[in-house]
Amino acid sequence: MNRRVFLYGLPTAALSAYGYSHFVEPRWLEDTQKNVVTGRGLKRPLRVLHLSDFHAAAIVPVSFIEEALRRGMAMKPDIVCFTGDFVTTDNDFDPARYESVLQMCSSVCPTFAVVGNHDGGAWSARAGWFPTSTYIRQLVTRGGVRVLHNDAVKIEVAGTPLWVVGVGDWWSDELRAPLAFANVKNDGAPVLLLNHNPDGKEDCKLFRWDLMLSGHTHGGQVMIPFYGPPIVPVLDKRYAVGLNRFEDRWVHTTRGVGNILGFRVNCRPEVSLLIVT
Ligand SMILES: [Fe+2]
Repeated sequence: MNRRVFLYGLPTAALSAYGYSHFVEPRWLEDTQKNVVTGRGLKRPLRVLHLSDFHAAAIVPVSFIEEALRRGMAMKPDIVCFTGDFVTTDNDFDPARYESVLQMCSSVCPTFAVVGNHDGGAWSARAGWFPTSTYIRQLVTRGGVRVLHNDAVKIEVAGTPLWVVGVGDWWSDELRAPLAFANVKNDGAPVLLLNHNPDGKEDCKLFRWDLMLSGHTHGGQVMIPFYGPPIVPVLDKRYAVGLNRFEDRWVHTTRGVGNILGFRVNCRPEVSLLIVT
């Protein structure tokens, strides 16, 4: 009996685990909500929708990205931020469809983005894909999204003045913090920093910001209980996932929406809302 259980049970369990990690969890979006206290005395809590790493590809169709955005917009955000890796490689997505999906957010509230290592630049070129991020930045811009590539803008949202700063990708050696923060005034308004790779925080350390939004890690795509992700593509593993303190500021690293290689284990794709006060 035990031998029969072993012979039939093991392959069945292996097939089930494979099926779950490839066909169930990667499409099983989780809505999360976290509170971030900046101490900047905002007039009312600011609802920031943070989405990242869509990775449009054959394994992550634009229809799934659309589902994530629809869920996010149902959370009634005041502002939407995308932190890069809109695609995985330079093919496998319909640009016109993608643009119209992004407009779901940008037509409703201020929407900002930075690009990631997959969106073009030195890292992407080495992988044989986009040599620069120009194409993806143009696509995202046509989607009504303001791309901040080492740039900053001051807006008023929910009655509160807010600086939004975006930097280039750290792996692509395009992060230029002095350029990005050049026009940011020390006027007491909260500063939201968009930075694809959380390791880039050290480059931005000398400048004033309250909350940094990052992606890149996908949460590791595999999360071991009581241990965390065994493999993450960052140097500083403390900021691999979730909301974490960085000196007197905050870093939020989302698990992202898409994935690469098509699997997730105990690390569901995330639609994250941050309530900033
Ligand atoms: Fe990514």
